Amino acid sequence: MTIIETAGTTTVTLRIWRTDNHFVEHTVAVPAGSYVIDAIERVYAQPGTGLVWRHACHHASCGSCGLRINGVEKLPCVTLLSDYPAGKPITLMPLAHFPRIADLVVDFVPFFDHLRAVGMPIVRRDETAPVLDNKHDLRFENCIECGLCVSACPAMANPRFLGPAALAAAERLMEESRGADLAHLLQLVDQTNGIWSCRSSYQCSAVCPTGVDPAGAIIRLRKKT
Ligand code: FES
Repeated sequence: MTIIETAGTTTVTLRIWRTDNHFVEHTVAVPAGSYVIDAIERVYAQPGTGLVWRHACHHASCGSCGLRINGVEKLPCVTLLSDYPAGKPITLMPLAHFPRIADLVVDFVPFFDHLRAVGMPIVRRDETAPVLDNKHDLRFENCIECGLCVSACPAMANPRFLGPAALAAAERLMEESRGADLAHLLQLVDQTNGIWSCRSSYQCSAVCPTGVDPAGAIIRLRKKT
């Protein structure tokens, strides 16, 4: 597959993983300066494509569009086609370590089960909480629950591992408890399928689009045990 730039137009071939475990190539033209999501939309709009994929906000806010693009976890809504070399296809695959539903869509139920296990409220309740110190000034609420960290994590081959997103959430509760039972929380994460399964590869932090730094959070949790 190729990316070809002509006046005002980019022609790109996407190599997309489909449900029955094979790839289908589609060539589409989009305006120059487009993002990967724009090319996917063109594929989706082609009659008979039947592509199943997920997206909403188009600006790295909803967390629903995450994919592996050329093998790396990305949000296609903020990933430029021009980030990829001309003359080569762009390969799109669903996130790893999630049950697959269809084509590029995966099942987030286990992901949210792990977040609930550590008692993480998705919506912040207390906006009057003290300001965090400089070391921790990236609030967990920056997490958009996109699942990129889980897909990139080598330890997620064990589905019982709580995973980087849930452990980052737990660390946030340790910093700002909101009434949580912190002794119980520490007991929950201080186990084989908790912080001790992390291999310190830092892949989770490398792919996080919002700077949550789950790997750093896990290191801080380990120091609390
Ligand atoms: S479409 Fe919402 S994060 Fe990409």
